[in-house]
Amino acid sequence: MGNRVYIFDTTLRDGEQSPGISLGTREKLEIAEQLQKLKVDVIEAGFPATSKGDFDAVCQIAKKIREPVICALARALPDDINTAWEAIKEAENPRIHTFISTSDIHLAYQLKKSRQEVKQLAVDAVRLAKRHTSDVEFSPMDATRSDVDYLCEVLEAVIREGATVVNIPDTVGYAIPEEFGDLIRTLMEKVPGIENVLVSVHCHNDLGLAVANSIAALKSGARQVECAINGLGERAGNASSEEIIMALKVRKDLLGFETGIKTEEISRTSRLVSLLTGYPVQPNKAIVGRNAFAHESGIHQDGVLKARSTYEIMDASSVGLVESDIVLGKHSGRHALKEQLERLGYYLKDDELDQAFSRFKELADKKGSLSGKDIEAIALEFIRTQGQEWKLTGYEVHSGGKEAPPSATITLERDGERRTERAIGDGMVDAACKAIRAALGVDAKLISFTVEAITGGLDALGDVTIQLEVGGKRVVGRGVSTDIVEASARAYLNAINKVLR
Ligand code: KIV
Ligand code: ZN
Repeated sequence: MGNRVYIFDTTLRDGEQSPGISLGTREKLEIAEQLQKLKVDVIEAGFPATSKGDFDAVCQIAKKIREPVICALARALPDDINTAWEAIKEAENPRIHTFISTSDIHLAYQLKKSRQEVKQLAVDAVRLAKRHTSDVEFSPMDATRSDVDYLCEVLEAVIREGATVVNIPDTVGYAIPEEFGDLIRTLMEKVPGIENVLVSVHCHNDLGLAVANSIAALKSGARQVECAINGLGERAGNASSEEIIMALKVRKDLLGFETGIKTEEISRTSRLVSLLTGYPVQPNKAIVGRNAFAHESGIHQDGVLKARSTYEIMDASSVGLVESDIVLGKHSGRHALKEQLERLGYYLKDDELDQAFSRFKELADKKGSLSGKDIEAIALEFIRTQGQEWKLTGYEVHSGGKEAPPSATITLERDGERRTERAIGDGMVDAACKAIRAALGVDAKLISFTVEAITGGLDALGDVTIQLEVGGKRVVGRGVSTDIVEASARAYLNAINKVLR
């Protein structure tokens, strides 16, 4: 067994299952392109049977992203498997990932099937998937709460049927590292044929142990790790890609593993995923949090000034954290913007560049000059609002006073149709959101609201994240502006547009 660990990124599938995340095709493609730059081995692009939107996005990714394996998820059902294949059949390296639960809890309450029936469904699923492609992954869902002998039986059967990857999910994040490592070792010893397939793990973070469990599994013989950027995923999320990758790199002395990852792309990937999903990264998050390389106490600062290695176990530049010196001003032209966007890795088409440029001008007029981070925020806001039905074209707010309450007048446009509404509210943000709701006739409950400054200084661009609940479903929206009320209106509209989409 070699020491190469394969990184299977599930940001676009399990990560997208985080409450409130709803990515459009353009956003997914942008993330997939960045994952390719990061050099992940596998991109799990989606679950095509769940919606037409997901199917289309997986098709696009399969056509355009050529280096990594493109994987599509499917339940152990013929329709799901055939749909997954339809979505990825044009990929250079397609993989079907099929799954079914094997724990008695899931069999009794969810599937209402016997162990024998489930094993047969698993075998049938792998057989059908193999008719489409040679690369087939099988997952016994809730493996860590499954009977080990039965788990071995199912794995043996699917390997005999031709599965090339067997993935052991800790679906509910229940395992403890030593225990999970033992489970993988037991499977490596007991399942005939397992030495000929790639053993993978997929850990959830309900007890905060997803990364530790994944590393324990690698030590016992697993060689693929399923993970998501910024640790996104169902409930508490999946094992975080950046943490696993950097743990393997920084502690290679102890663990001895290698990945093919270009770690300098980590920071950018994290920012892109955060901005497009609307999920902010907590400041103290390992590797990619704002404070991950910041030193606050005097003793630490003193040490770092003398020798960085006193309090830093890795170099910020190894994860791509380099201060950008780009500054564009209101006199900068379209060409300068294009050049800087391309330096940052954003390649817009001519008509897209025209639109991004007019937004750049608007902001540069207000702010004077824009830094690299500001320019990146504009590019991402542009990508995020692509295909967005309603656009904010007019906006006026009054803070009110003794006589008049705060009010907002908002104009929205879609394909030549224009709607203007005025509303009053508890504050200007409330009034602006009410006016948007009135214009579009959508009823939404505000769940959370956060504002962050993109760069330092009083004139920083404000980045607002809003989470709404509409008809029992949560959506996240994000908006950027020099004016916090306008950024809020943009974030609110971004979320409502997702509902309408
Ligand atoms: O958590 C899980 O069990 C999954 C499977 C589909 C692999 O996401
Ligand atoms: Zn999962």
